[in-house]
Amino acid sequence: MQNNLADLEKNTLDKLTSINNTQELSELRTQLLGRNGELTQILRSIGDLDANERKLAGQVSNALKKKLEQVLDQKNTDLVSAQLANLESLDVSLPGKYKPIGRLHPITQTLRHILDVLRRLGFTVVEGPEVELSAYNFDKLRIPENHPARDMWDTFWIDKEDESMLLRTHTSPMQIRYMETHEPPIRVAVPGRCYRYEATDMTHEWMLQQVELLAIDKGISLADLKGTLHEFARQIFGSDSEVMLRNSYFPFVEPGVELAVKFRGKWLEIMGAGMVHPEIIENAGYDSSVYTGFAAGMGIERIAMAVYEVDDIRHFYTNDLRFLSQF
Ligand code: PHE
Repeated sequence: MQNNLADLEKNTLDKLTSINNTQELSELRTQLLGRNGELTQILRSIGDLDANERKLAGQVSNALKKKLEQVLDQKNTDLVSAQLANLESLDVSLPGKYKPIGRLHPITQTLRHILDVLRRLGFTVVEGPEVELSAYNFDKLRIPENHPARDMWDTFWIDKEDESMLLRTHTSPMQIRYMETHEPPIRVAVPGRCYRYEATDMTHEWMLQQVELLAIDKGISLADLKGTLHEFARQIFGSDSEVMLRNSYFPFVEPGVELAVKFRGKWLEIMGAGMVHPEIIENAGYDSSVYTGFAAGMGIERIAMAVYEVDDIRHFYTNDLRFLSQF
């Protein structure tokens, strides 16, 4: 009996060293101390012994039972706390998960800034159609068919034979549309995409975004146009930037001007402008001896080039993240 107990103890302690989860541990406990457990059976058999042996055997067996129970309990505590330690461990040196964050396109950022400035100067933002009637894109703006001024805008026609609809080449058609449907005083800013069938280079794209300005009221003069453009340039390019207003020609204004900004030592034209032609005011149904006004059309990409110092307009639409993520 003594030998049996010694073997049982040794076997149990051996098994215990290879157990590393609580499931296995509770199986071992049942094997030993369960209803038919090995130690349980030994304890039960003590009753069959002679009275003189019984006492000693009982003491030794119960002492072993106590000891093994303690060992199993201790092992259980160790396993549970090891599990908890595992759950709670946080390795702060692990690299984080990379989540790319999107941003607004530089042209969108520039456009929003421009519209903010114009709103503060008193303009309301409205939009017009990108697919336009040739009548609004050209004729009503005093650019008749065969007029050499049409050559200023190479055009995407919707139907090559029937040249009555096109992708607008500028936002100026909205001057006419707005005047036809509204009474002065008028102060509107019209952002939108325009399309020109032309070869691209560092300062020309076949798709561009413009913002058109139109102000019609009693007594508006060229001084108002100059003041507006000057304040606009100051807010967009900063008070120490160099801008130049020089004369130019557009059939729908008289006189016509253009605004250029100094960029990398050269003048970069960023908008055309002028006093709305009296004939256009009359065609809209207003008395041109009472109402005058100015119009301007600016190129957003050109302005973004000067603001962000981008030397090639084509960068904006090649969707290269190495470029775009710089803004
Ligand atoms: N529409 C002209 C262009 O696209 C710019 C312009 C607008 C000129 C308004 C004068 C007045 O080039």
